[in-house]
Amino acid sequence: MSLQLTAPVHIAPNADQLYDDLAADLSRAATEAVRDRGLFHLALSGGSTPEPFYTRLVLDPRYRLLPWQAAHLWIVDDRRVPEDDQKSNVRMIRESLADHIDIKKRHVHAMPVMEDDPAGLYEAELRRAFEQGADDAPQRPPALDYVLLGMGEDAHTASLFPNSPALDEAERWIAVNDGPHVTPPDRVTMTYPLLNAARRIAVLVTGSKKSATLRRIEAALADGSADKSALPITGVQPCGDVMKWFLDAEAAGDTDN
Ligand code: 6PG
Repeated sequence: MSLQLTAPVHIAPNADQLYDDLAADLSRAATEAVRDRGLFHLALSGGSTPEPFYTRLVLDPRYRLLPWQAAHLWIVDDRRVPEDDQKSNVRMIRESLADHIDIKKRHVHAMPVMEDDPAGLYEAELRRAFEQGADDAPQRPPALDYVLLGMGEDAHTASLFPNSPALDEAERWIAVNDGPHVTPPDRVTMTYPLLNAARRIAVLVTGSKKSATLRRIEAALADGSADKSALPITGVQPCGDVMKWFLDAEAAGDTDN
């Protein structure tokens, strides 16, 4: 069973194997980033799919050797709720991963979701970490070393929901996303310009519930009707060999496994 999506597709027979394959990819990227640039800028998604993967990174001795001391951890998107809310992505990422690894506390960059201008503040934090000028002029987005994305059944990724305003953001790196097309509560999200500037993007999708969405994306790509307004994940199109889909057999619709 193969799927033609926006980038190469890796299919593992089960979620457990998939987490190992993804962890190996992440480890390689981390090692290279630290070797070449001395730092590893990692951006992680929330949602339910990656949580067991984060736990695996903590518990499996092979991945405890990741160069966390040199890592900066960014959040792909979050809900505008206090950090102790069950719906907070950074809460889940801290509890499943960041609280248990050897990362500097100040290198865990929560989105300032409760502030008036979370997008501007988070961009400023990115600029500081990437040592870009502090002025407000639009600049080329920084290249995050590794971005882990998920996908909803409606083909949203990050908090880029079908037909929602943040899809049209062409300059800012971070946007608030709200309105009738956004599943509440309001969100703060990385935008296409920032995501598409990444050095590596992995899209993790597991479970049979996402299988029909992947088929819909495949069909839209094949007949040329794929459109980021309807299928936001198809707007993630970095140049070159940057992106890879990581699917388990259930998501891929491969029921023989
Ligand atoms: C979030 C995410 C979001 C997620 C998809 C898939 O906060 O919800 O960052 O983009 O990846 O909604 O969510 P599940 O993994 O829960 O299916």
